[in-house]
Amino acid sequence: MNILAIETSCDETAAAVVRDGREVRSNVVWSQIAVHQPFGGVVPELAARAHIEAIIPVTRTAMEQAGTDWDEIDAIAVTNRPGLSGALLVGVNFAKAAALARRKPLIGVHHIEGHLAALWIDEGDSGEIALPATVLVVSGGHTELIQIDSPGSYRVLGGTIDDAAGEAFDKGARLLELGYPGGPAIQKASERGDERAIPFPRAWLDDALDFSFSGLKTALLRLTKPYELPAEPIFGGAKEQAFVPHIARQFQADMPVADLAAGFQFAIVDVLVEKTIQAAQRHQSRSIGIVGGVAANRRLRDRLLERAGDVLPGIDVRIPAFRYCTDNAAMIGVAGCWAFARGAFSDLDLDVISREPLAERAG
Ligand code: KG4
Ligand code: ZN
Repeated sequence: MNILAIETSCDETAAAVVRDGREVRSNVVWSQIAVHQPFGGVVPELAARAHIEAIIPVTRTAMEQAGTDWDEIDAIAVTNRPGLSGALLVGVNFAKAAALARRKPLIGVHHIEGHLAALWIDEGDSGEIALPATVLVVSGGHTELIQIDSPGSYRVLGGTIDDAAGEAFDKGARLLELGYPGGPAIQKASERGDERAIPFPRAWLDDALDFSFSGLKTALLRLTKPYELPAEPIFGGAKEQAFVPHIARQFQADMPVADLAAGFQFAIVDVLVEKTIQAAQRHQSRSIGIVGGVAANRRLRDRLLERAGDVLPGIDVRIPAFRYCTDNAAMIGVAGCWAFARGAFSDLDLDVISREPLAERAG
């Protein structure tokens, strides 16, 4: 069974062909990073326009790379929730048009279920992930701890009460003027730093499996202030532009950028790891997964493996390959295969939903 999958919920235009729920036949991602870079974050209107330009060539390339023709495609899966409405609309409308023209069933997929499904992609490793599993979904838009009891049965154990972890990385990088996207930039700057040199706060929120990163951002702002140089005045121009580009902060040369980045990164990673381990312990999970763009973070991966080894020896820790951690359509294809098996098809009036939790919150 082959699913053509489409993903346009944020700033990646992606298409993939997935066979039998685990085999990725093609996975094409067109990143809009260059489009949003001058603004220091995703500009929704520009994202939607860029998806319109990319969606046809990206899908065509995915079909070509998979070596599939339309006869072999059993259904078209598309992310329809949650995400940026304008961006989602491009993928959903494209998928509807293709489904109608090629007479294929349509399947609307929840983006977070897609991220979870990345754990099922066959990468020639140790077989399917063992359930129950505790999965940390960490991306630019999401920070959630999800318990997977059985395929398709999810419980939300906790989530962020303010910024998502990726958003915290992005905002931190912006404060330090390290560029966009922030996660990789902070990781790189941290390499030369001492993560314990400068203390950063951690929001443990008592026993809750929730997260908060806004205090951390404020701490970083406060720590950089003493090094900040007066801003260059801007003359004209800015008002006439549709979108005002980010105006760079300037710092004294002696600002300990590497230590600040490393301390900031470790404060995020520390809380993510400890809460994930606590959750897995409480729910007697057989495995732990991390998915989403932030799962690419080297310190997060290392710390989780180290702490899981200490606290929950024998637990299976799964982190998909980088290309399946950041937004992609292969993961949407896997979730689409599950929906296909359940007979959960969508009508051609499928709508986009900008916010929708994946599941009920566990008690
Ligand atoms: O999953 P994703 O591609 O898109 C969303 O659904 O949001 O995640 C993007 C996020 C960005 O916030 C980016 O800064 C973060 O993932 N990210 C990282 C790293 N690579 C990407 N964060 C920390 N360390 C990284 N190496
Ligand atoms: Zn995502």
